[in-house]
Amino acid sequence: MSETAFDAAAHAAVARVLRERRTVHDFLPEPVPPELVERALELACWAPNHHRTEPWRFYLLGEQAREAVAVLNAEMVAAKSNERAAEVKLRRWRAMPGWLVLTSARSEDRLREREDYAACCCAAQNFMLALWADGVGTKWTTGGVVRNARFADIVGFDDGAEQVVGLFWYGWPATVTNQMRRPLERFVVHVA
Ligand SMILES: Cc1cc2nc3c(=O)[nH]c(=O)nc-3n(C[C@H](O)[C@H](O)[C@H](O)COP(=O)(O)O)c2cc1C
Repeated sequence: MSETAFDAAAHAAVARVLRERRTVHDFLPEPVPPELVERALELACWAPNHHRTEPWRFYLLGEQAREAVAVLNAEMVAAKSNERAAEVKLRRWRAMPGWLVLTSARSEDRLREREDYAACCCAAQNFMLALWADGVGTKWTTGGVVRNARFADIVGFDDGAEQVVGLFWYGWPATVTNQMRRPLERFVVHVA
């Protein structure tokens, strides 16, 4: 069988990961082995990217940065709603077992910046699917904290040179929720 010949088992495995990956909201406390994360990041880098700009940067947050982001987020929640809601969020964020921030290079060239951002979204999906194949769940969030001016300082990137694609939590799923998608016909247009 040539390398490009149809491989039904490989197809089924890929289709299963694509279909069954879910955003995970609740994680078990046990940490994910770093080698699984590293393998997923290496696979993330195989995302398509126009002109091979490799615009992604991955920031793996340690204890200090996680705590600072969780506290910053709680401050924002307190300002917007109330102390009680902030406490609940703080407790919840402190329990997140793995933290990754993905940024995309900014550019003076708007088309390039847009294409680089698109490539980083592909990298994000590669990352999530690779982890899912190992039984590890992820949650991609673009909540307000990632746009707070202090966020870039905590994570350690230059806000003028990189934009946040997302904050990703990862860990062993405690629960996995169901999802639906509308029928494909809704989205497909056959153009003569
Ligand atoms: C750019 C982006 C930002 C997202 N931000 C959030 C978020 O802030 N909070 C959240 O609960 N889910 C967030 N999600 C996850 C979506 O809610 C989730 O993908 C959607 O509900 C479909 O569920 P599934 O991933 O299990 O298929 C985000 C997803 C993307 C692609």
